[in-house]
Amino acid sequence: MTHSSSAAALRDADTSRKLGVVIVGHVDHGKSTLIGRLLYDTGSFMEGKYEELKAVCERRGVPFEWSFLLDAFQAERDQAITIDTTQIWFKTRKRNCMIIDAPGHREFLKNMISGAAFADAAILVVDAKEGVREQTRRHAYLLHLLGLKQIVVVVNKMDAADYTEARFNEVSGEITAYLAGIGLAPRQIIPIAARHGENIAQGSPNMPWYKGPILIDMLDTMEPVLPAPERPLRFPVQDVYRFDETRIIAGRIESGSLRTGDKLLFSPSGRSAHVVSIEKWSVPAAPMEAQAGESIGITLDQPIFVARGDVASHAEKAPVLANRFRVSLFWLGKKPLQAGKVYKMKLSTYEAAVTVESIERVISTEDLSSADKPEVAINEMAEVTFRSREIIALDAHGDNPLMGRAVLVENHDVVGGGIISGEGLEDLRVTLTQSQANLFAVDHLLPRESRAVRNGHHGAVIWLTGLSGAGKSTLAMRVEHALFNRGFQTYVLDGDNVRRGLNNDLGFSPEDRAENIRRVGEVAALMADAGLVCITAFISPYCADRLKARAAAGDDFHEIYVKADVATCEGRDPKGLYKKARAGEIHEFTGISAPYEAPDAPELVVDTQAHNIDACVEMVLEYIEDATARRDQKKRAVQA
Ligand code: ADX
Repeated sequence: MTHSSSAAALRDADTSRKLGVVIVGHVDHGKSTLIGRLLYDTGSFMEGKYEELKAVCERRGVPFEWSFLLDAFQAERDQAITIDTTQIWFKTRKRNCMIIDAPGHREFLKNMISGAAFADAAILVVDAKEGVREQTRRHAYLLHLLGLKQIVVVVNKMDAADYTEARFNEVSGEITAYLAGIGLAPRQIIPIAARHGENIAQGSPNMPWYKGPILIDMLDTMEPVLPAPERPLRFPVQDVYRFDETRIIAGRIESGSLRTGDKLLFSPSGRSAHVVSIEKWSVPAAPMEAQAGESIGITLDQPIFVARGDVASHAEKAPVLANRFRVSLFWLGKKPLQAGKVYKMKLSTYEAAVTVESIERVISTEDLSSADKPEVAINEMAEVTFRSREIIALDAHGDNPLMGRAVLVENHDVVGGGIISGEGLEDLRVTLTQSQANLFAVDHLLPRESRAVRNGHHGAVIWLTGLSGAGKSTLAMRVEHALFNRGFQTYVLDGDNVRRGLNNDLGFSPEDRAENIRRVGEVAALMADAGLVCITAFISPYCADRLKARAAAGDDFHEIYVKADVATCEGRDPKGLYKKARAGEIHEFTGISAPYEAPDAPELVVDTQAHNIDACVEMVLEYIEDATARRDQKKRAVQA
């Protein structure tokens, strides 16, 4: 192969069938040298770069290293690179390959488990002299965990082992045995000397005893893992865009395919609607069909509530609904994972708060033994059972690899990840559907508009959320009073009141709060349907719970963030509860010992720190008058 300047050509080449390769192995076993050499031998460097670097080394009197070439290459790589993942392209005889790398060991692992570096194939590098080491095992285990099956092992630095077949056989035996223990079989084990380019893109006169294929030819026997159109449809919703009356539901089809006219089931909500159109940005005419791997938008025939994180499927082959599931996990967090701890879990586009229910076993990557341990330390693998407050739509990794991955986040940092195990996974869909099956919604004889006409305004849920002491109740009562005086039908549901009656069986655990908000969300939606402007004043600290309240009321829902920080609320402390919470007399007190998740995109923010109460009341009144104005009245106002 010539060392022509093919980098630009490579970038322009058709990349649709590229092969994503990760190179893993113990530190210093020759990863970077191998990458440098692969690039050089496949002519992927700018012409003259090698010579230039060699000359620099000679001038400075340092021995040339292939990894320098890699560094230089990375320094001039183009824009198609995200901050923490590096994509390095090279070309084999058959196709374009992309090495997925990341600066730093931890970043690399994070990328692997968060799926950013989703690879088709892996090269596992083992030093011929040192043999299998700690990270060799760990990385191999990670490959297994991520379901990577196309693996080539290279036994590197054969030059340092005198090119002897005996040593090669020893190391081969060692790695084969380990891989077999985790159910992996390498496609090939190749003796190489990366530094000298032996058995990479050319054979090696020093190892005539090796009769197998060289590395580059092995790569050509591997296939890109294609999106799976033949699997059941999974279309996780990324965003919902509104253009006037149209809503476009956008996302990437992870598996299967959909057509216009298809009836889609959205999970976990269980709502259904038909696809009216498929929107694709890059094509002139709207397609009739779209399949796995495509990013699309769809419009539906009904205005059902759909939000980011919902998964659309066909009804017959829907994802599992669960609030308890097991994950085969790789832990990267500096603080150990412990039972009872709460983390944020990302499953495709869905984010949920999950609690570690139990640690089934911690697996040592050294000898694959499992142990009963109360916590999972950094770099350990484990089987962990999680419980979520809400019901989540998911797939076991074995059924759908792209959907069956979970990433754990703590303080915006990826701390772990793994795959959802099918073991003991109970699908709640059956139970949930059965209990709903014999219910039939009864239609009112009154159209909603009739109530609006009589009342002079539409019904609405005005959902106030914020810390205790932020001013929700005060605001709610003042607004109710003012609205009443202006002729509105209105009522306030307040946390402290509702918790004395309807919800007097609930405390302040995340589960109880979720149930509190669920009930109030449903009641408020009924009130809005009855034509009232229902103002709710609940801390409602979790986004997911508020999202459900929104789902219950649909377009009638308006979220208002009553904003004041903990220090301010604590300073006000109208009920003396912060004081008690600080003294440890109240547990799980929001803002002190329990979280508050501020809304991402509320309809209105009322900052009670920045404005006095009168101004805040005015702001909310103005918003409500506008939001609940009858359409004909609005039109009149515009004309006037
Ligand atoms: S929510 O979190 O479930 O939305 P909600 O608004 O109903 O809470 O109730 C909050 C009120 O309960 C507070 O205003 C306060 O008076 C009282 N309270 C008692 N214990 C707690 C606690 N641990 N955290 C927050 N509020 C508490």
